[in-house]
Amino acid sequence: MSNQTRVRKAVFPVAGLGTRFLPATKASPKEMLPVVDKPLIQYAVEEAYEAGIRDMVFVTGRSKRAIEDHFDTAYELENELKQAGKQAMLELVRSISPADMNCLFVRQPRSLGLGHAVLCAEPLVGNEPFAVILADDLMVGENDGPGVMAQMTAAFQKQGRSLLAVQEVPLEQTRRYGIVKGEPAGGALMRIDEIVEKPAPEKAPSRMGVAGRYVLTPAIFDEIRNQPKGVGGEIQLTDAIERLMTHEAVYAFQYQGKRYDCGSKEGFLQATVELALQHPEVGGSFRDYLKNLSI
Ligand code: G1P
Repeated sequence: MSNQTRVRKAVFPVAGLGTRFLPATKASPKEMLPVVDKPLIQYAVEEAYEAGIRDMVFVTGRSKRAIEDHFDTAYELENELKQAGKQAMLELVRSISPADMNCLFVRQPRSLGLGHAVLCAEPLVGNEPFAVILADDLMVGENDGPGVMAQMTAAFQKQGRSLLAVQEVPLEQTRRYGIVKGEPAGGALMRIDEIVEKPAPEKAPSRMGVAGRYVLTPAIFDEIRNQPKGVGGEIQLTDAIERLMTHEAVYAFQYQGKRYDCGSKEGFLQATVELALQHPEVGGSFRDYLKNLSI
């Protein structure tokens, strides 16, 4: 295992087709769906940046060009905003990609699952710990506290073992998550002794579901490489983590904050309403509007 405990790289698996959001996702990436005024992928990248991560590795696929363009310089747009004297807007556009942030792209040529997507990032990650962020899960820290990835990288710095963000999920929803069982290990940590991908409620070892945030040691790559297909015929990250546990401790991390499942219509709507209410520009008037709705 590498001794490094500083997490410098984040992997964003963004090759998925987003079929749950058709027709919106027919020609546009699901990660570009905006919650109020920012695409999901930008929330995810900002969360990583806040955690001190500067190398953003996107595992993309066909029809995901918009993601690359979003984090690239937009010369024409910047020129027009400059000419029009729209300084605030210009700064907003430029702030999407701070000068000290690197965006790296690699293709996942076939949809073989989350584990496979993470393995595609190996040449860009190398032999060091890294974060995995699923942009579908929009995570918001508590009040003015740190974001979820910042909480996780701080915890990783202390103990140097793989961490999975977890939250309690309703029993009838265990089929949507990786489910873990473990022993309390101090503070927000639990040492995992069992993990299973998308079990039926009667087979679930607990109600602790994995949310879309991981900090993994590079040993995970060898496990994925040797990983046969699992649930849904896909190479599952969860299964590789189960094998990793046989020679490295893996911990569940109970984060402070809220998760919106923006891979589902309902979660997406909840995020939109709640983040709109907090938005400095539209929050107040949107609140008044909601109050006057007769529902
Ligand atoms: C993936 C993981 C699952 C995890 C979930 C969190 O599933 O395989 O273990 O609980 O993300 O969102 P997906 O939602 O991509 O099917």
